[in-house]
Amino acid sequence: MLRKFLIAAGSVLAVIVLGGGVFVSARQNLHFDDTPYPDVAASTDSAVIARGRYIVRDVAPCAGCHGDPSQRASYVSGADVPLVGGFSFDIPPGQFYTRNLTSDKETGLGGVPDKAIARALRYGVGHDGRALLPFMEMQGLADDDLRAVVSYLRTQPPVRNPVPPHHYNVLGKVVRATVLSKPVGPSATPPAQSPRGASVETGRYLAESVALCWSCHTERSQMTGALTGPRYGGTTGFTESYDTARTWSPPNITSDPETGRLGKMNEDQFVARFRQGRVIPGSPMPWQAFSRMDEDDLRAIYRYLKSVAPVKRDVGPPVVSLGKT
Ligand code: HEC
Ligand code: HEC
Repeated sequence: MLRKFLIAAGSVLAVIVLGGGVFVSARQNLHFDDTPYPDVAASTDSAVIARGRYIVRDVAPCAGCHGDPSQRASYVSGADVPLVGGFSFDIPPGQFYTRNLTSDKETGLGGVPDKAIARALRYGVGHDGRALLPFMEMQGLADDDLRAVVSYLRTQPPVRNPVPPHHYNVLGKVVRATVLSKPVGPSATPPAQSPRGASVETGRYLAESVALCWSCHTERSQMTGALTGPRYGGTTGFTESYDTARTWSPPNITSDPETGRLGKMNEDQFVARFRQGRVIPGSPMPWQAFSRMDEDDLRAIYRYLKSVAPVKRDVGPPVVSLGKT
Protein backbone atom coordinates (compact mmCIF):
# COMPACT_ATOMS: atom_id res chain seq x y z
CA MET A 1 0.00 0.00 0.00
CA LEU A 2 2.71 2.42 1.09
CA ARG A 3 4.88 1.33 -1.81
CA LYS A 4 2.09 1.97 -4.29
CA PHE A 5 1.50 5.38 -2.78
CA LEU A 6 5.18 6.25 -3.03
CA ILE A 7 5.34 5.17 -6.65
CA ALA A 8 2.24 7.21 -7.44
CA ALA A 9 3.50 10.25 -5.53
CA GLY A 10 6.91 9.84 -7.17
CA SER A 11 5.45 9.86 -10.65
CA VAL A 12 3.29 12.88 -9.91
CA LEU A 13 6.39 14.68 -8.65
CA ALA A 14 8.36 13.59 -11.71
CA VAL A 15 5.65 14.96 -13.98
CA ILE A 16 5.64 18.27 -12.09
CA VAL A 17 9.43 18.62 -12.17
CA LEU A 18 9.63 17.57 -15.79
CA GLY A 19 6.68 19.78 -16.73
CA GLY A 20 8.21 22.71 -14.84
CA GLY A 21 11.52 22.13 -16.60
CA VAL A 22 9.87 22.01 -20.02
CA PHE A 23 7.83 25.11 -19.16
CA VAL A 24 10.93 26.99 -18.02
CA SER A 25 13.11 25.99 -20.96
CA ALA A 26 10.35 26.64 -23.51
CA ARG A 27 10.14 30.17 -22.19
CA GLN A 28 13.85 31.07 -22.42
CA ASN A 29 13.64 32.37 -25.96
CA LEU A 30 10.28 34.09 -26.15
CA HIS A 31 10.12 36.63 -28.95
CA PHE A 32 8.15 39.84 -29.09
CA ASP A 33 8.75 40.76 -32.72
CA ASP A 34 5.19 42.12 -33.04
CA THR A 35 6.00 45.02 -30.73
CA PRO A 36 5.71 48.18 -32.86
CA TYR A 37 8.77 50.28 -33.66
CA PRO A 38 8.58 53.93 -32.59
CA ASP A 39 8.74 56.21 -35.62
CA VAL A 40 12.27 57.41 -34.87
CA ALA A 41 15.05 58.23 -37.31
CA ALA A 42 18.38 59.73 -36.24
CA SER A 43 18.93 63.38 -37.08
CA THR A 44 22.21 65.12 -37.94
CA ASP A 45 20.93 68.49 -36.71
CA SER A 46 23.46 69.83 -34.19
CA ALA A 47 20.76 71.07 -31.78
CA VAL A 48 19.13 67.62 -31.71
CA ILE A 49 22.51 65.94 -31.11
CA ALA A 50 23.32 68.45 -28.34
CA ARG A 51 20.02 67.64 -26.60
CA GLY A 52 20.85 63.92 -26.96
CA ARG A 53 24.25 64.46 -25.43
CA TYR A 54 22.66 66.33 -22.53
CA ILE A 55 20.18 63.51 -21.88
CA VAL A 56 22.73 60.68 -22.24
CA ARG A 57 25.61 62.32 -20.35
CA ASP A 58 24.11 64.77 -17.86
CA VAL A 59 20.62 63.57 -16.95
CA ALA A 60 20.01 59.88 -17.75
CA PRO A 61 22.64 57.63 -16.20
CA CYS A 62 23.55 55.73 -19.43
CA ALA A 63 27.33 55.97 -18.92
CA GLY A 64 27.08 54.65 -15.36
CA CYS A 65 26.20 51.28 -16.88
CA HIS A 66 27.45 51.44 -20.49
CA GLY A 67 30.67 53.44 -19.90
CA ASP A 68 33.99 51.65 -20.33
CA PRO A 69 34.49 49.80 -16.99
CA SER A 70 38.27 50.32 -17.23
CA GLN A 71 37.70 54.11 -17.32
CA ARG A 72 35.49 54.22 -14.25
CA ALA A 73 37.67 56.81 -12.47
CA SER A 74 37.45 59.22 -15.44
CA TYR A 75 33.69 58.74 -15.58
CA VAL A 76 33.34 59.52 -11.88
CA SER A 77 35.40 62.67 -12.31
CA GLY A 78 33.12 63.83 -15.13
CA ALA A 79 34.63 62.68 -18.46
CA ASP A 80 32.44 61.52 -21.38
CA VAL A 81 33.92 58.00 -21.47
CA PRO A 82 33.28 55.73 -24.49
CA LEU A 83 30.01 53.79 -24.21
CA VAL A 84 31.61 50.43 -25.00
CA GLY A 85 29.62 48.37 -22.47
CA GLY A 86 30.91 45.15 -20.92
CA PHE A 87 30.16 46.03 -17.32
CA SER A 88 28.87 42.91 -15.59
CA PHE A 89 26.13 42.72 -12.98
CA ASP A 90 26.72 39.68 -10.73
CA ILE A 91 23.31 39.28 -9.14
CA PRO A 92 21.35 36.29 -7.74
CA PRO A 93 19.78 35.26 -11.11
CA GLY A 94 23.14 35.24 -12.94
CA GLN A 95 25.69 37.41 -14.74
CA PHE A 96 24.46 40.13 -17.07
CA TYR A 97 26.47 42.44 -19.29
CA THR A 98 25.75 45.93 -20.56
CA ARG A 99 25.92 46.28 -24.35
CA ASN A 100 28.33 48.21 -26.55
CA LEU A 101 26.47 51.36 -27.69
CA THR A 102 29.16 52.68 -30.06
CA SER A 103 28.60 52.45 -33.82
CA ASP A 104 30.88 49.44 -34.30
CA LYS A 105 29.14 47.19 -36.88
CA GLU A 106 29.91 43.83 -35.30
CA THR A 107 30.05 44.42 -31.56
CA GLY A 108 28.08 47.67 -31.16
CA LEU A 109 24.95 49.29 -32.56
CA GLY A 110 26.39 49.86 -36.04
CA GLY A 111 24.15 47.19 -37.56
CA VAL A 112 21.08 47.99 -35.46
CA PRO A 113 18.46 50.27 -37.12
CA ASP A 114 17.51 53.57 -35.39
CA LYS A 115 13.97 52.39 -34.75
CA ALA A 116 15.23 49.20 -33.05
CA ILE A 117 17.33 51.25 -30.60
CA ALA A 118 14.25 53.39 -29.95
CA ARG A 119 12.09 50.29 -29.41
CA ALA A 120 14.59 48.87 -26.91
CA LEU A 121 14.37 52.03 -24.81
CA ARG A 122 10.62 52.54 -25.11
CA TYR A 123 9.22 49.01 -25.10
CA GLY A 124 12.01 46.91 -23.59
CA VAL A 125 12.30 44.70 -26.68
CA GLY A 126 15.84 44.09 -27.94
CA HIS A 127 16.93 44.40 -31.58
CA ASP A 128 16.65 40.57 -31.75
CA GLY A 129 13.04 40.59 -30.47
CA ARG A 130 13.80 39.31 -26.94
CA ALA A 131 12.42 40.92 -23.77
CA LEU A 132 15.31 42.95 -22.34
CA LEU A 133 16.17 42.64 -18.67
CA PRO A 134 14.45 45.54 -16.92
CA PHE A 135 17.63 47.50 -16.15
CA MET A 136 16.57 50.51 -18.21
CA GLU A 137 13.62 52.42 -16.86
CA MET A 138 13.39 55.30 -19.35
CA GLN A 139 10.31 53.99 -21.17
CA GLY A 140 8.68 57.39 -20.56
CA LEU A 141 11.25 59.38 -22.62
CA ALA A 142 9.38 61.86 -24.83
CA ASP A 143 9.39 61.24 -28.60
CA ASP A 144 11.73 64.20 -29.24
CA ASP A 145 14.17 63.05 -26.54
CA LEU A 146 14.11 59.46 -27.79
CA ARG A 147 15.11 60.76 -31.22
CA ALA A 148 17.78 63.00 -29.65
CA VAL A 149 19.28 60.06 -27.72
CA VAL A 150 19.43 57.86 -30.84
CA SER A 151 20.93 60.77 -32.84
CA TYR A 152 23.65 61.29 -30.22
CA LEU A 153 24.47 57.55 -30.05
CA ARG A 154 25.00 57.62 -33.83
CA THR A 155 27.81 60.17 -33.37
CA GLN A 156 29.78 57.81 -31.11
CA PRO A 157 32.87 56.57 -32.97
CA PRO A 158 32.97 52.79 -33.43
CA VAL A 159 34.95 50.91 -30.78
CA ARG A 160 35.32 47.17 -31.13
CA ASN A 161 34.39 45.55 -27.80
CA PRO A 162 32.74 42.14 -27.90
CA VAL A 163 30.50 41.71 -24.86
CA PRO A 164 29.84 38.16 -23.57
CA PRO A 165 26.28 36.78 -23.69
CA HIS A 166 24.29 36.84 -20.44
CA HIS A 167 24.55 33.84 -18.12
CA TYR A 168 21.31 32.79 -16.42
CA ASN A 169 21.63 30.25 -13.60
CA VAL A 170 18.72 27.96 -12.60
CA LEU A 171 17.07 30.70 -10.54
CA GLY A 172 17.62 33.15 -13.42
CA LYS A 173 15.98 30.76 -15.89
CA VAL A 174 12.92 30.40 -13.65
CA VAL A 175 12.72 34.19 -13.18
CA ARG A 176 13.04 34.67 -16.93
CA ALA A 177 10.27 32.16 -17.63
CA THR A 178 7.91 33.79 -15.12
CA VAL A 179 8.17 37.29 -13.60
CA LEU A 180 10.55 38.68 -16.23
CA SER A 181 9.13 36.89 -19.26
CA LYS A 182 7.46 39.97 -20.74
CA PRO A 183 9.10 43.19 -21.88
CA VAL A 184 8.38 46.31 -19.82
CA GLY A 185 6.83 49.20 -21.75
CA PRO A 186 5.76 52.70 -20.67
CA SER A 187 3.08 52.99 -17.96
CA ALA A 188 1.40 55.89 -19.84
CA THR A 189 1.75 57.28 -23.35
CA PRO A 190 4.99 59.32 -23.34
CA PRO A 191 4.71 62.97 -24.45
CA ALA A 192 5.59 63.91 -28.03
CA GLN A 193 7.54 66.96 -26.84
CA SER A 194 9.63 66.96 -23.67
CA PRO A 195 8.38 69.63 -21.25
CA ARG A 196 10.87 72.49 -20.72
CA GLY A 197 11.23 75.31 -18.19
CA ALA A 198 11.27 75.35 -14.38
CA SER A 199 7.81 73.82 -13.92
CA VAL A 200 6.49 70.93 -11.82
CA GLU A 201 5.64 69.17 -15.08
CA THR A 202 9.25 69.36 -16.35
CA GLY A 203 10.45 68.20 -12.94
CA ARG A 204 8.11 65.22 -12.95
CA TYR A 205 9.29 64.23 -16.42
CA LEU A 206 13.00 64.47 -15.53
CA ALA A 207 12.80 62.84 -12.08
CA GLU A 208 10.43 60.06 -13.16
CA SER A 209 11.46 59.22 -16.74
CA VAL A 210 15.00 60.48 -17.36
CA ALA A 211 17.16 60.96 -14.22
CA LEU A 212 15.21 58.21 -12.41
CA CYS A 213 15.63 59.78 -8.95
CA TRP A 214 12.91 57.46 -7.58
CA SER A 215 14.83 54.35 -8.65
CA CYS A 216 17.48 54.80 -5.94
CA HIS A 217 15.50 56.87 -3.44
CA THR A 218 12.65 54.33 -3.01
CA GLU A 219 12.87 50.95 -1.24
CA ARG A 220 12.79 48.07 -3.78
CA SER A 221 12.80 44.29 -3.88
CA GLN A 222 16.33 43.03 -4.64
CA MET A 223 14.81 40.14 -6.58
CA THR A 224 12.27 41.75 -8.92
CA GLY A 225 12.94 45.48 -8.55
CA ALA A 226 9.32 46.10 -7.46
CA LEU A 227 8.91 49.19 -5.26
CA THR A 228 8.28 48.14 -1.66
CA GLY A 229 8.42 51.50 0.16
CA PRO A 230 6.91 54.98 -0.20
CA ARG A 231 8.04 56.86 -3.31
CA TYR A 232 11.12 59.03 -2.62
CA GLY A 233 10.97 57.92 1.04
CA GLY A 234 14.58 56.68 0.97
CA THR A 235 16.08 53.21 1.03
CA THR A 236 18.75 51.17 2.82
CA GLY A 237 21.22 48.47 1.85
CA PHE A 238 21.92 49.92 -1.62
CA THR A 239 25.14 48.36 -2.92
CA GLU A 240 27.55 49.61 -5.55
CA SER A 241 29.17 46.90 -7.67
CA TYR A 242 32.53 48.70 -7.64
CA ASP A 243 32.66 48.90 -3.84
CA THR A 244 31.40 45.93 -1.86
CA ALA A 245 32.82 47.08 1.49
CA ARG A 246 30.00 49.60 2.07
CA THR A 247 26.26 49.92 1.63
CA TRP A 248 24.41 53.16 0.94
CA SER A 249 21.15 54.64 2.13
CA PRO A 250 19.87 57.10 -0.49
CA PRO A 251 17.98 59.48 1.83
CA ASN A 252 14.32 60.42 2.01
CA ILE A 253 14.05 63.30 -0.48
CA THR A 254 10.46 64.31 0.26
CA SER A 255 9.61 67.58 1.99
CA ASP A 256 8.86 66.07 5.42
CA PRO A 257 10.24 68.77 7.77
CA GLU A 258 12.06 66.32 10.08
CA THR A 259 13.19 63.37 7.98
CA GLY A 260 13.02 64.59 4.36
CA ARG A 261 16.00 66.34 2.76
CA LEU A 262 13.72 68.70 0.89
CA GLY A 263 12.12 69.75 4.14
CA LYS A 264 15.46 71.27 5.10
CA MET A 265 16.59 72.78 1.77
CA ASN A 266 15.16 75.74 -0.08
CA GLU A 267 15.32 75.87 -3.87
CA ASP A 268 18.57 77.85 -4.05
CA GLN A 269 20.27 75.52 -1.60
CA PHE A 270 19.12 72.54 -3.68
CA VAL A 271 20.61 74.05 -6.86
CA ALA A 272 23.83 74.91 -4.98
CA ARG A 273 24.05 71.34 -3.61
CA PHE A 274 23.84 69.94 -7.16
CA ARG A 275 26.45 72.39 -8.49
CA GLN A 276 28.81 71.22 -5.73
CA GLY A 277 28.86 67.64 -7.08
CA ARG A 278 29.88 64.55 -5.11
CA VAL A 279 30.73 65.25 -1.46
CA ILE A 280 30.96 61.69 -0.10
CA PRO A 281 33.68 59.88 -2.11
CA GLY A 282 32.35 56.80 -3.89
CA SER A 283 28.70 57.83 -3.70
CA PRO A 284 26.81 55.93 -6.43
CA MET A 285 24.63 58.97 -7.18
CA PRO A 286 25.86 60.36 -10.54
CA TRP A 287 26.65 63.77 -9.03
CA GLN A 288 29.26 64.60 -11.69
CA ALA A 289 26.57 64.31 -14.37
CA PHE A 290 23.79 66.01 -12.43
CA SER A 291 26.08 68.92 -11.47
CA ARG A 292 25.99 69.92 -15.17
CA MET A 293 22.20 69.98 -15.42
CA ASP A 294 20.53 73.21 -16.58
CA GLU A 295 19.48 75.46 -13.75
CA ASP A 296 15.84 75.45 -14.94
CA ASP A 297 15.85 71.65 -14.84
CA LEU A 298 17.23 71.54 -11.28
CA ARG A 299 14.60 74.07 -10.17
CA ALA A 300 11.94 72.00 -11.93
CA ILE A 301 13.03 68.83 -10.11
CA TYR A 302 12.96 70.67 -6.78
CA ARG A 303 9.45 71.97 -7.46
CA TYR A 304 8.24 68.51 -8.45
CA LEU A 305 9.73 66.82 -5.37
CA LYS A 306 8.11 69.50 -3.21
CA SER A 307 4.76 68.49 -4.76
CA VAL A 308 5.22 64.81 -3.85
CA ALA A 309 3.48 63.55 -0.67
CA PRO A 310 5.85 64.05 2.29
CA VAL A 311 6.99 60.80 3.92
CA LYS A 312 8.09 60.55 7.57
CA ARG A 313 10.93 58.07 7.43
CA ASP A 314 14.56 58.21 8.49
CA VAL A 315 16.87 55.74 6.73
CA GLY A 316 19.92 56.56 8.84
CA PRO A 317 23.41 57.63 7.75
CA PRO A 318 24.02 57.77 3.96
CA VAL A 319 26.84 55.22 3.99
CA VAL A 320 27.53 52.23 6.22
CA SER A 321 30.87 50.40 6.35
CA LEU A 322 30.47 46.63 6.41
CA GLY A 323 33.82 46.24 8.14
CA LYS A 324 35.32 44.34 5.17
CA THR A 325 38.54 45.47 3.57
C1 HEC B 1 21.21 50.31 -14.79
C2 HEC B 1 22.09 50.03 -15.91
C3 HEC B 1 21.74 50.59 -17.27
C4 HEC B 1 21.47 51.90 -17.59
C5 HEC B 1 21.38 53.11 -16.67
C6 HEC B 1 21.31 51.93 -19.03
N1 HEC B 1 21.45 50.68 -19.55
FE1 HEC B 1 21.23 50.14 -21.50
N2 HEC B 1 21.48 48.17 -21.01
C7 HEC B 1 21.76 47.70 -19.74
C8 HEC B 1 21.80 46.24 -19.77
C9 HEC B 1 22.09 45.31 -18.59
C10 HEC B 1 21.54 45.86 -21.10
C11 HEC B 1 21.39 44.44 -21.64
C12 HEC B 1 19.93 44.07 -21.52
C13 HEC B 1 19.56 42.72 -22.10
O1 HEC B 1 20.26 42.25 -23.00
O2 HEC B 1 18.57 42.13 -21.64
C14 HEC B 1 21.35 47.10 -21.86
C15 HEC B 1 21.08 47.15 -23.22
C16 HEC B 1 20.97 48.33 -23.96
C17 HEC B 1 20.77 48.38 -25.39
C18 HEC B 1 20.75 47.19 -26.33
C19 HEC B 1 19.37 46.69 -26.59
C20 HEC B 1 19.40 45.54 -27.58
O3 HEC B 1 18.83 45.71 -28.65
O4 HEC B 1 19.98 44.48 -27.26
C21 HEC B 1 20.71 49.72 -25.73
C22 HEC B 1 20.51 50.31 -27.12
C23 HEC B 1 20.86 50.49 -24.52
N3 HEC B 1 21.02 49.61 -23.46
C24 HEC B 1 20.88 51.87 -24.46
C25 HEC B 1 20.92 52.63 -23.27
C26 HEC B 1 20.80 54.08 -23.21
C27 HEC B 1 20.71 55.01 -24.41
C28 HEC B 1 20.81 54.42 -21.88
C29 HEC B 1 20.60 55.80 -21.27
C30 HEC B 1 19.44 56.53 -21.77
C31 HEC B 1 20.97 53.17 -21.12
N4 HEC B 1 21.02 52.12 -22.00
C32 HEC B 1 21.03 53.09 -19.75
C33 HEC B 1 21.95 48.46 -18.61
C34 HEC B 1 21.72 49.83 -18.51
C1 HEC C 1 22.23 55.64 -8.49
C2 HEC C 1 21.44 55.98 -7.33
C3 HEC C 1 20.94 57.40 -7.18
C4 HEC C 1 20.25 58.17 -8.10
C5 HEC C 1 19.85 57.80 -9.54
C6 HEC C 1 19.93 59.39 -7.44
N1 HEC C 1 20.44 59.40 -6.16
FE1 HEC C 1 20.32 60.91 -4.82
N2 HEC C 1 21.54 59.89 -3.53
C7 HEC C 1 21.96 58.60 -3.71
C8 HEC C 1 22.79 58.22 -2.59
C9 HEC C 1 23.48 56.88 -2.40
C10 HEC C 1 22.84 59.33 -1.70
C11 HEC C 1 23.60 59.42 -0.36
C12 HEC C 1 25.08 59.68 -0.62
C13 HEC C 1 25.35 61.08 -1.10
O1 HEC C 1 24.87 62.06 -0.45
O2 HEC C 1 26.03 61.23 -2.14
C14 HEC C 1 22.04 60.38 -2.34
C15 HEC C 1 21.84 61.65 -1.81
C16 HEC C 1 20.95 62.59 -2.30
C17 HEC C 1 20.64 63.86 -1.67
C18 HEC C 1 21.21 64.39 -0.37
C19 HEC C 1 22.52 65.10 -0.63
C20 HEC C 1 23.03 65.88 0.57
O3 HEC C 1 24.23 66.18 0.55
O4 HEC C 1 22.26 66.17 1.46
C21 HEC C 1 19.72 64.50 -2.49
C22 HEC C 1 19.07 65.85 -2.24
C23 HEC C 1 19.48 63.62 -3.62
N3 HEC C 1 20.24 62.47 -3.47
C24 HEC C 1 18.60 63.90 -4.64
C25 HEC C 1 18.52 63.15 -5.84
C26 HEC C 1 17.78 63.59 -7.01
C27 HEC C 1 16.95 64.85 -7.11
C28 HEC C 1 17.99 62.64 -7.97
C29 HEC C 1 17.52 62.65 -9.43
C30 HEC C 1 17.90 63.86 -10.18
C31 HEC C 1 18.82 61.59 -7.38
N4 HEC C 1 19.13 61.95 -6.10
C32 HEC C 1 19.23 60.43 -8.03
C33 HEC C 1 21.69 57.79 -4.80
C34 HEC C 1 21.05 58.19 -5.97
